[in-house]
Amino acid sequence: MPSKDQVLGDFYYREAKRGGYRSRSALKLKEIAEKYRIFRKGQVVIDLGAAPGGWLQVEREMVGPEGLVIGVDLSPITPLPFDNVRLIRGDIAAPDIIEQVCKLAGGKADVVVSDLAPKFSGIHDLDHVRQLDLSTMALAVSSRVMRAGGSMIMKVLMGSEFKRFFSSVEPHFGSVRIHKPKASRESSSEVYLVCMGFRGKSSS
Ligand SMILES: C[S@@+](CC[C@H](N)C(=O)[O-])C[C@H]1O[C@@H](n2cnc3c(N)ncnc32)[C@H](O)[C@@H]1O
Repeated sequence: MPSKDQVLGDFYYREAKRGGYRSRSALKLKEIAEKYRIFRKGQVVIDLGAAPGGWLQVEREMVGPEGLVIGVDLSPITPLPFDNVRLIRGDIAAPDIIEQVCKLAGGKADVVVSDLAPKFSGIHDLDHVRQLDLSTMALAVSSRVMRAGGSMIMKVLMGSEFKRFFSSVEPHFGSVRIHKPKASRESSSEVYLVCMGFRGKSSS
């Protein structure tokens, strides 16, 4: 007998396929974006940890042909068939990544998203800390490339360091909500921070 998680996982997998999305997690971003009304037509969006590109597809739908979407990942991403979805293959920790992103963006971004994940070891505490390290880097990048008033959506894994991390994010935004999308397995410790009203201060 399949578990509730397996049944739901299969359902969202099929839904993502039906919608033509490259990843099941595209549905997570869609749910968050619609609930919190994150995107507007014409916006500039930076996607950190973008491969294989499911979130990029959702972002392109939301900002339309007049917007600009920039995806960054260590892994190669098969290009999307749109001129306004640009890709950078690289490490978000690389010293020149901010310069590369700003050059492509031609200014500051309206929204930064991060679905960054380390290579999982299966040891929860270790994976939790590694993922928070990536999220800390994502916050540092976003505070350099995002305009005041902008929004950030960031995946984090819950665990012993979550509270400390949350406290480090909160002062940078007008509001920070914790959201668990329906397409996220109940057994997974992942949640998404929905951060709105960037105050415009650097976190580094
Ligand atoms: C869960 S996947 C992202 C899925 C994506 N949101 C989608 O819908 O297709 C996480 C990604 O983070 C990337 N990643 C991990 N560490 C990174 C780093 N230091 N710099 C850039 N990308 C990184 C991985 O290569 C992986 O592709």
